[in-house]
Amino acid sequence: LAPPASAEAQPRPAPRGEPLLRLRRNRKADWARRLVRENVLTPADLIWPIFVCEGVNLREPISSLPGVDRLSIDAAVDSAREAQALGIPALALFPYTDPALRDETGSEALNPENLVCRAVRAIKETTPDLGLITDVALDPYTSHGHDGLMAGEEILNDETVEVLVQQALNQARAGTDMIAPSDMMDGRVRAIRAALDAEGFQSVQILAYAAKYASAFYGPFRDAIGTRATLIGDKRTYQMDPANSNEALREVAQDILEGADIVMVKPGLPYLDIICRVKDKFGLPTFAYQVSGEYAMIQAAVNNGWLDGDKAMMESLLAFKRAGADAVLTYFAPRAAKLLQGG
Ligand code: PBG
Repeated sequence: LAPPASAEAQPRPAPRGEPLLRLRRNRKADWARRLVRENVLTPADLIWPIFVCEGVNLREPISSLPGVDRLSIDAAVDSAREAQALGIPALALFPYTDPALRDETGSEALNPENLVCRAVRAIKETTPDLGLITDVALDPYTSHGHDGLMAGEEILNDETVEVLVQQALNQARAGTDMIAPSDMMDGRVRAIRAALDAEGFQSVQILAYAAKYASAFYGPFRDAIGTRATLIGDKRTYQMDPANSNEALREVAQDILEGADIVMVKPGLPYLDIICRVKDKFGLPTFAYQVSGEYAMIQAAVNNGWLDGDKAMMESLLAFKRAGADAVLTYFAPRAAKLLQGG
Protein backbone atom coordinates (compact mmCIF):
# COMPACT_ATOMS: atom_id res chain seq x y z
CA LEU A 1 0.00 0.00 0.00
CA ALA A 2 1.31 3.43 -0.92
CA PRO A 3 1.22 5.86 2.00
CA PRO A 4 -1.44 8.56 1.59
CA ALA A 5 -0.22 11.87 0.19
CA SER A 6 -0.62 13.58 3.53
CA ALA A 7 1.67 11.07 5.19
CA GLU A 8 4.25 11.56 2.46
CA ALA A 9 4.05 15.27 3.00
CA GLN A 10 4.75 14.89 6.71
CA PRO A 11 7.36 17.47 7.45
CA ARG A 12 8.83 15.66 10.41
CA PRO A 13 12.14 14.07 9.52
CA ALA A 14 13.25 10.86 11.18
CA PRO A 15 16.91 11.62 11.67
CA ARG A 16 17.68 8.69 13.94
CA GLY A 17 15.69 6.24 11.83
CA GLU A 18 12.61 6.23 14.06
CA PRO A 19 9.51 4.57 12.59
CA LEU A 20 7.51 6.97 10.41
CA LEU A 21 4.35 5.23 11.35
CA ARG A 22 3.58 3.65 14.70
CA LEU A 23 0.86 1.05 14.09
CA ARG A 24 1.28 -0.11 17.68
CA ARG A 25 -0.51 3.03 18.91
CA ASN A 26 -3.88 1.45 18.01
CA ARG A 27 -2.96 -1.70 19.93
CA LYS A 28 -1.83 -0.05 23.15
CA ALA A 29 -4.80 -1.10 25.33
CA ASP A 30 -7.78 -3.38 25.22
CA TRP A 31 -10.22 -0.49 24.74
CA ALA A 32 -8.21 0.78 21.77
CA ARG A 33 -7.99 -2.65 20.19
CA ARG A 34 -11.72 -3.10 20.56
CA LEU A 35 -12.38 0.21 18.80
CA VAL A 36 -10.43 -0.73 15.68
CA ARG A 37 -11.37 -4.41 15.52
CA GLU A 38 -12.44 -5.31 11.97
CA ASN A 39 -14.25 -8.61 12.55
CA VAL A 40 -16.25 -10.09 15.38
CA LEU A 41 -17.58 -13.53 16.08
CA THR A 42 -21.05 -13.97 17.58
CA PRO A 43 -23.15 -17.04 18.35
CA ALA A 44 -25.21 -16.13 15.26
CA ASP A 45 -22.19 -17.09 13.14
CA LEU A 46 -22.26 -20.69 14.33
CA ILE A 47 -23.99 -23.82 13.08
CA TRP A 48 -23.76 -26.91 15.27
CA PRO A 49 -23.38 -30.27 13.47
CA ILE A 50 -24.92 -33.14 15.43
CA PHE A 51 -24.75 -36.92 14.96
CA VAL A 52 -27.96 -38.80 15.65
CA CYS A 53 -28.26 -42.49 16.51
CA GLU A 54 -30.94 -44.94 17.63
CA GLY A 55 -31.63 -45.47 21.33
CA VAL A 56 -32.93 -43.58 24.33
CA ASN A 57 -31.01 -41.16 26.50
CA LEU A 58 -27.84 -42.23 24.76
CA ARG A 59 -24.59 -40.32 24.28
CA GLU A 60 -22.01 -42.42 22.46
CA PRO A 61 -18.50 -40.98 22.43
CA ILE A 62 -16.64 -40.92 19.10
CA SER A 63 -12.98 -41.64 19.85
CA SER A 64 -11.55 -39.62 16.96
CA LEU A 65 -13.77 -36.65 17.85
CA PRO A 66 -13.05 -36.16 21.55
CA GLY A 67 -15.87 -34.23 23.21
CA VAL A 68 -18.42 -35.00 20.47
CA ASP A 69 -21.03 -37.74 20.98
CA ARG A 70 -23.58 -39.51 18.85
CA LEU A 71 -26.94 -38.60 20.35
CA SER A 72 -30.20 -40.50 20.51
CA ILE A 73 -33.12 -38.38 19.33
CA ASP A 74 -34.20 -37.32 22.85
CA ALA A 75 -30.63 -36.21 23.60
CA ALA A 76 -30.52 -34.36 20.27
CA VAL A 77 -33.69 -32.53 21.35
CA ASP A 78 -31.83 -31.47 24.51
CA SER A 79 -28.97 -30.16 22.37
CA ALA A 80 -31.48 -28.25 20.26
CA ARG A 81 -32.78 -26.55 23.40
CA GLU A 82 -29.21 -25.80 24.42
CA ALA A 83 -28.46 -24.35 20.99
CA GLN A 84 -31.47 -22.08 21.23
CA ALA A 85 -30.48 -20.90 24.71
CA LEU A 86 -26.97 -20.16 23.44
CA GLY A 87 -28.17 -18.13 20.46
CA ILE A 88 -26.93 -20.63 17.88
CA PRO A 89 -29.30 -20.19 14.90
CA ALA A 90 -29.23 -23.70 13.45
CA LEU A 91 -28.24 -27.35 13.78
CA ALA A 92 -26.96 -29.61 10.99
CA LEU A 93 -28.06 -33.23 11.40
CA PHE A 94 -26.13 -36.35 10.38
CA PRO A 95 -27.31 -39.90 11.04
CA TYR A 96 -25.47 -43.00 12.17
CA THR A 97 -27.53 -45.57 10.27
CA ASP A 98 -27.80 -49.12 11.59
CA PRO A 99 -25.44 -51.14 9.33
CA ALA A 100 -28.26 -53.66 8.77
CA LEU A 101 -30.24 -50.89 7.04
CA ARG A 102 -27.45 -49.93 4.64
CA ASP A 103 -27.61 -51.24 1.09
CA GLU A 104 -26.17 -50.69 -2.40
CA THR A 105 -28.65 -47.92 -3.26
CA GLY A 106 -28.97 -46.20 0.12
CA SER A 107 -32.71 -46.89 0.20
CA GLU A 108 -33.02 -45.93 3.89
CA ALA A 109 -32.43 -42.32 2.77
CA LEU A 110 -35.94 -42.38 1.31
CA ASN A 111 -37.64 -43.85 4.38
CA PRO A 112 -39.96 -41.22 5.92
CA GLU A 113 -39.28 -42.87 9.31
CA ASN A 114 -35.49 -42.78 9.06
CA LEU A 115 -33.42 -41.28 11.86
CA VAL A 116 -33.02 -37.86 10.29
CA CYS A 117 -36.76 -37.47 9.58
CA ARG A 118 -37.70 -38.54 13.10
CA ALA A 119 -35.07 -36.21 14.58
CA VAL A 120 -36.33 -33.29 12.48
CA ARG A 121 -39.91 -33.84 13.66
CA ALA A 122 -38.89 -34.23 17.31
CA ILE A 123 -36.71 -31.12 17.32
CA LYS A 124 -39.29 -29.03 15.46
CA GLU A 125 -41.86 -30.00 18.07
CA THR A 126 -39.83 -28.59 20.97
CA THR A 127 -37.80 -25.83 19.31
CA PRO A 128 -39.73 -24.76 16.19
CA ASP A 129 -37.72 -21.54 15.88
CA LEU A 130 -34.36 -23.26 15.64
CA GLY A 131 -33.13 -23.74 12.06
CA LEU A 132 -32.57 -27.31 10.86
CA ILE A 133 -30.18 -28.21 8.08
CA THR A 134 -30.20 -31.72 6.66
CA ASP A 135 -27.54 -33.27 4.47
CA VAL A 136 -28.42 -34.67 1.08
CA ALA A 137 -25.98 -37.42 0.06
CA LEU A 138 -26.23 -41.19 0.26
CA ASP A 139 -23.10 -42.06 2.24
CA PRO A 140 -24.74 -42.65 5.64
CA TYR A 141 -27.05 -45.15 3.95
CA THR A 142 -24.94 -47.06 1.41
CA SER A 143 -23.08 -50.30 2.09
CA HIS A 144 -20.11 -48.97 0.09
CA GLY A 145 -19.97 -45.59 1.84
CA HIS A 146 -20.21 -43.49 -1.34
CA ASP A 147 -22.44 -40.45 -1.72
CA GLY A 148 -23.98 -41.84 -4.91
CA LEU A 149 -25.02 -45.00 -6.72
CA MET A 150 -22.20 -47.30 -7.81
CA ALA A 151 -21.89 -49.25 -11.04
CA GLY A 152 -18.68 -51.22 -10.84
CA GLU A 153 -16.07 -48.66 -9.86
CA GLU A 154 -18.06 -45.74 -11.17
CA ILE A 155 -20.28 -43.33 -9.23
CA LEU A 156 -23.25 -42.65 -11.48
CA ASN A 157 -24.22 -39.00 -11.77
CA ASP A 158 -27.69 -38.60 -13.24
CA GLU A 159 -29.12 -41.73 -11.64
CA THR A 160 -27.81 -40.50 -8.28
CA VAL A 161 -29.40 -37.08 -8.77
CA GLU A 162 -32.79 -38.76 -9.15
CA VAL A 163 -32.37 -40.43 -5.76
CA LEU A 164 -31.04 -37.25 -4.13
CA VAL A 165 -34.17 -35.42 -5.27
CA GLN A 166 -36.29 -38.04 -3.51
CA GLN A 167 -34.10 -37.79 -0.40
CA ALA A 168 -34.51 -34.01 -0.36
CA LEU A 169 -38.29 -34.30 -0.70
CA ASN A 170 -38.35 -36.86 2.12
CA GLN A 171 -36.53 -34.40 4.39
CA ALA A 172 -38.71 -31.47 3.32
CA ARG A 173 -41.86 -33.44 4.15
CA ALA A 174 -40.42 -34.12 7.61
CA GLY A 175 -40.08 -30.37 8.11
CA THR A 176 -36.44 -29.50 7.47
CA ASP A 177 -35.66 -25.82 6.84
CA MET A 178 -32.59 -26.12 4.67
CA ILE A 179 -31.44 -28.83 2.29
CA ALA A 180 -27.67 -29.20 2.08
CA PRO A 181 -26.51 -31.34 -0.84
CA SER A 182 -23.00 -32.50 0.06
CA ASP A 183 -22.71 -35.11 -2.68
CA MET A 184 -20.98 -33.06 -5.45
CA MET A 185 -22.98 -34.61 -8.29
CA ASP A 186 -23.44 -32.30 -11.28
CA GLY A 187 -26.87 -30.75 -11.70
CA ARG A 188 -28.33 -31.74 -8.35
CA VAL A 189 -29.13 -28.24 -7.13
CA ARG A 190 -31.35 -27.49 -10.12
CA ALA A 191 -33.12 -30.84 -9.88
CA ILE A 192 -33.72 -30.47 -6.12
CA ARG A 193 -34.95 -26.86 -6.47
CA ALA A 194 -37.41 -27.85 -9.18
CA ALA A 195 -38.76 -30.78 -7.18
CA LEU A 196 -39.09 -28.75 -3.98
CA ASP A 197 -40.98 -26.00 -5.79
CA ALA A 198 -43.25 -28.48 -7.55
CA GLU A 199 -44.27 -29.91 -4.17
CA GLY A 200 -44.91 -26.54 -2.55
CA PHE A 201 -41.65 -26.28 -0.61
CA GLN A 202 -40.73 -22.90 -2.11
CA SER A 203 -39.37 -21.62 1.17
CA VAL A 204 -37.04 -24.53 1.89
CA GLN A 205 -33.55 -23.16 1.32
CA ILE A 206 -30.69 -24.88 -0.48
CA LEU A 207 -27.25 -24.67 1.08
CA ALA A 208 -25.01 -26.10 -1.62
CA TYR A 209 -21.75 -27.72 -0.66
CA ALA A 210 -20.49 -25.98 -3.78
CA ALA A 211 -16.73 -26.31 -3.36
CA LYS A 212 -16.20 -29.53 -1.49
CA TYR A 213 -12.76 -31.05 -1.71
CA ALA A 214 -11.65 -34.69 -1.61
CA SER A 215 -10.02 -34.18 1.77
CA ALA A 216 -8.15 -36.27 4.31
CA PHE A 217 -9.78 -34.16 7.02
CA TYR A 218 -13.10 -36.02 6.88
CA GLY A 219 -11.72 -39.10 8.66
CA PRO A 220 -13.31 -38.62 12.10
CA PHE A 221 -16.69 -37.77 10.49
CA ARG A 222 -16.57 -41.12 8.72
CA ASP A 223 -16.02 -42.78 12.11
CA ALA A 224 -18.99 -40.86 13.46
CA ILE A 225 -21.39 -42.02 10.73
CA GLY A 226 -19.73 -45.43 10.42
CA THR A 227 -18.33 -45.32 6.88
CA ARG A 228 -14.58 -45.24 7.45
CA ALA A 229 -14.13 -49.00 7.39
CA THR A 230 -16.62 -49.68 4.61
CA LEU A 231 -15.76 -46.94 2.10
CA ILE A 232 -14.58 -48.50 -1.15
CA GLY A 233 -11.77 -46.46 -2.69
CA ASP A 234 -12.02 -42.69 -2.41
CA LYS A 235 -14.24 -39.82 -3.54
CA ARG A 236 -11.90 -38.15 -5.99
CA THR A 237 -14.13 -38.62 -9.04
CA TYR A 238 -16.73 -36.30 -7.53
CA GLN A 239 -15.14 -34.21 -4.77
CA MET A 240 -12.67 -31.54 -5.88
CA ASP A 241 -8.92 -31.82 -6.25
CA PRO A 242 -7.25 -29.87 -3.39
CA ALA A 243 -4.87 -28.41 -5.99
CA ASN A 244 -7.64 -26.39 -7.67
CA SER A 245 -8.94 -22.93 -7.00
CA ASN A 246 -10.41 -21.56 -10.27
CA GLU A 247 -12.49 -24.71 -10.50
CA ALA A 248 -14.09 -23.84 -7.16
CA LEU A 249 -15.38 -20.60 -8.68
CA ARG A 250 -16.92 -22.56 -11.56
CA GLU A 251 -18.60 -24.94 -9.11
CA VAL A 252 -19.98 -22.02 -7.12
CA ALA A 253 -21.13 -20.14 -10.24
CA GLN A 254 -22.97 -23.24 -11.42
CA ASP A 255 -24.70 -23.86 -8.10
CA ILE A 256 -25.83 -20.22 -7.96
CA LEU A 257 -27.21 -20.53 -11.49
CA GLU A 258 -29.06 -23.67 -10.45
CA GLY A 259 -30.72 -21.98 -7.48
CA ALA A 260 -28.49 -22.26 -4.41
CA ASP A 261 -29.43 -19.74 -1.71
CA ILE A 262 -26.15 -20.15 0.14
CA VAL A 263 -22.89 -21.77 -0.89
CA MET A 264 -20.39 -23.62 1.26
CA VAL A 265 -16.67 -24.21 1.11
CA LYS A 266 -15.35 -27.35 2.77
CA PRO A 267 -12.97 -28.07 4.54
CA GLY A 268 -12.39 -24.76 6.30
CA LEU A 269 -9.03 -23.52 7.55
CA PRO A 270 -6.91 -25.15 4.82
CA TYR A 271 -9.24 -23.52 2.25
CA LEU A 272 -9.57 -19.95 3.54
CA ASP A 273 -8.23 -18.73 0.19
CA ILE A 274 -11.22 -20.32 -1.51
CA ILE A 275 -13.70 -18.73 0.93
CA CYS A 276 -12.10 -15.37 0.27
CA ARG A 277 -12.26 -15.72 -3.53
CA VAL A 278 -15.85 -16.97 -3.48
CA LYS A 279 -17.05 -14.18 -1.24
CA ASP A 280 -15.19 -11.52 -3.24
CA LYS A 281 -16.46 -12.73 -6.58
CA PHE A 282 -20.09 -13.59 -5.85
CA GLY A 283 -20.95 -11.75 -2.63
CA LEU A 284 -23.69 -14.16 -1.69
CA PRO A 285 -24.03 -15.82 1.72
CA THR A 286 -21.01 -18.08 2.03
CA PHE A 287 -20.61 -20.67 4.75
CA ALA A 288 -17.54 -22.63 5.75
CA TYR A 289 -17.32 -26.09 7.31
CA GLN A 290 -14.61 -26.51 9.92
CA VAL A 291 -14.62 -30.26 9.41
CA SER A 292 -14.09 -33.14 11.79
CA GLY A 293 -10.35 -33.50 11.15
CA GLU A 294 -9.76 -29.82 11.84
CA TYR A 295 -11.63 -30.10 15.13
CA ALA A 296 -9.77 -33.31 16.00
CA MET A 297 -6.40 -31.74 15.25
CA ILE A 298 -6.98 -28.83 17.60
CA GLN A 299 -8.60 -30.98 20.26
CA ALA A 300 -5.79 -33.54 20.19
CA ALA A 301 -3.23 -30.80 20.80
CA VAL A 302 -5.36 -29.37 23.58
CA ASN A 303 -5.72 -32.78 25.22
CA ASN A 304 -1.94 -33.08 25.16
CA GLY A 305 -1.58 -29.74 26.86
CA TRP A 306 0.07 -28.25 23.78
CA LEU A 307 -2.50 -25.57 22.96
CA ASP A 308 -4.80 -23.34 24.93
CA GLY A 309 -8.11 -24.79 23.77
CA ASP A 310 -10.35 -21.75 24.13
CA LYS A 311 -7.86 -19.44 22.46
CA ALA A 312 -7.12 -21.80 19.58
CA MET A 313 -10.84 -22.38 19.04
CA MET A 314 -11.75 -18.70 18.99
CA GLU A 315 -8.83 -17.75 16.78
CA SER A 316 -9.68 -20.46 14.26
CA LEU A 317 -13.34 -19.37 14.15
CA LEU A 318 -12.50 -15.68 13.81
CA ALA A 319 -10.26 -16.56 10.86
CA PHE A 320 -13.35 -17.71 8.96
CA LYS A 321 -15.04 -14.37 9.52
CA ARG A 322 -11.93 -12.52 8.38
CA ALA A 323 -11.82 -14.62 5.20
CA GLY A 324 -15.40 -13.60 4.44
CA ALA A 325 -17.54 -16.47 5.74
CA ASP A 326 -21.01 -15.54 6.99
CA ALA A 327 -21.35 -18.62 9.18
CA VAL A 328 -19.28 -21.64 10.19
CA LEU A 329 -20.36 -25.22 10.73
CA THR A 330 -18.22 -26.29 13.65
CA TYR A 331 -18.16 -28.95 16.32
CA PHE A 332 -16.95 -26.17 18.64
CA ALA A 333 -20.31 -24.36 18.27
CA PRO A 334 -21.70 -24.89 21.79
CA ARG A 335 -18.37 -24.25 23.49
CA ALA A 336 -17.68 -21.13 21.46
CA ALA A 337 -21.20 -19.80 22.02
CA LYS A 338 -20.85 -20.35 25.76
CA LEU A 339 -17.59 -18.46 25.81
CA LEU A 340 -19.11 -15.62 23.76
CA GLN A 341 -21.95 -15.40 26.25
CA GLY A 342 -19.33 -14.97 28.93
CA GLY A 343 -19.98 -18.40 30.47
C1 PBG B 1 -20.74 -36.69 3.22
C2 PBG B 1 -20.24 -35.66 4.15
C3 PBG B 1 -18.93 -35.67 4.66
C4 PBG B 1 -18.87 -34.61 5.56
C5 PBG B 1 -20.10 -33.96 5.56
N1 PBG B 1 -20.96 -34.62 4.65
C6 PBG B 1 -17.80 -36.60 4.48
C7 PBG B 1 -17.43 -37.10 3.18
O1 PBG B 1 -17.63 -36.45 2.14
O2 PBG B 1 -16.91 -38.20 3.15
C8 PBG B 1 -17.64 -34.29 6.35
C9 PBG B 1 -17.80 -33.44 7.54
C10 PBG B 1 -16.69 -33.51 8.51
O3 PBG B 1 -15.61 -34.10 8.26
O4 PBG B 1 -16.87 -32.96 9.60
N2 PBG B 1 -21.66 -36.42 2.29
